[in-house]
Amino acid sequence: MSGDDERDYDGYARLGLDRSGQAEAFDNIGVRYDDAFPHKEGQLEAGAWLGAELPPGSRILDLGCGTGLPTARQLTDAGHHVVGVDLSPGMLKLARDNVPGAEFLLGDMAELRDGRLGTFDGIAAFFALLMLPRPEIPHALRMLYGMLRPGGLLALSMVEADVDDFAIPFLGNTIRVSGYLRDELRQVVRETGFEISGESSPAYAPASTDVPPEIQLFLNLRRA
Ligand SMILES: C[S@@+](CC[C@H](N)C(=O)[O-])C[C@H]1O[C@@H](n2cnc3c(N)ncnc32)[C@H](O)[C@@H]1O
Repeated sequence: MSGDDERDYDGYARLGLDRSGQAEAFDNIGVRYDDAFPHKEGQLEAGAWLGAELPPGSRILDLGCGTGLPTARQLTDAGHHVVGVDLSPGMLKLARDNVPGAEFLLGDMAELRDGRLGTFDGIAAFFALLMLPRPEIPHALRMLYGMLRPGGLLALSMVEADVDDFAIPFLGNTIRVSGYLRDELRQVVRETGFEISGESSPAYAPASTDVPPEIQLFLNLRRA
């Protein structure tokens, strides 16, 4: 894609994208991800908001969809057409088995900036943007804004942490994650143009001792 393309989203194309090890880690983690993160009440609540605010049959992107559980299944069961995208072939295979009624595509979310998937009524981005280095996150949010129809919805979640591209041990692998404290996250999404129509910040204790407890941030966002 040319850097002069009108879908360049303010220089996203000029960022160096380093994904080394991220897909391999999730390929290795596979089903252990869902075992380590059971009882996703916060995520289910945010998914229910997205599913109920949009009319049945809406087109929804599940960004960094992982195994498709619980979100792609929840939204498909609610009667929506779900397109899941993930960088990890192993996670996508699980997603296709778990949610045969959804469509799943292998790819890096940054590739979507060329508009290849068209427009969506809603987007779920649960714990997906935290996989990016911080300088990339505002670009990714602008891209998601551009992929939504006017009035479209984004259900976003992150882990609350003041870190940038920070390597952490995760279920026997190393992944790199970024995050914000909640005030800064609100500021970043507002600067993108999103309106915040709801939020929650549940404490979450994973089932695995390999992953520390975390505060999760869920924001219900609307494209103006
Ligand atoms: C922490 S998991 C979250 C999975 C799912 N959204 C959930 O909440 O259960 C992050 C997912 O994002 C995927 N991922 C990481 N970097 C990505 C990228 N650049 N583009 C697309 N997917 C990516 C990983 O393979 C992994 O499945």
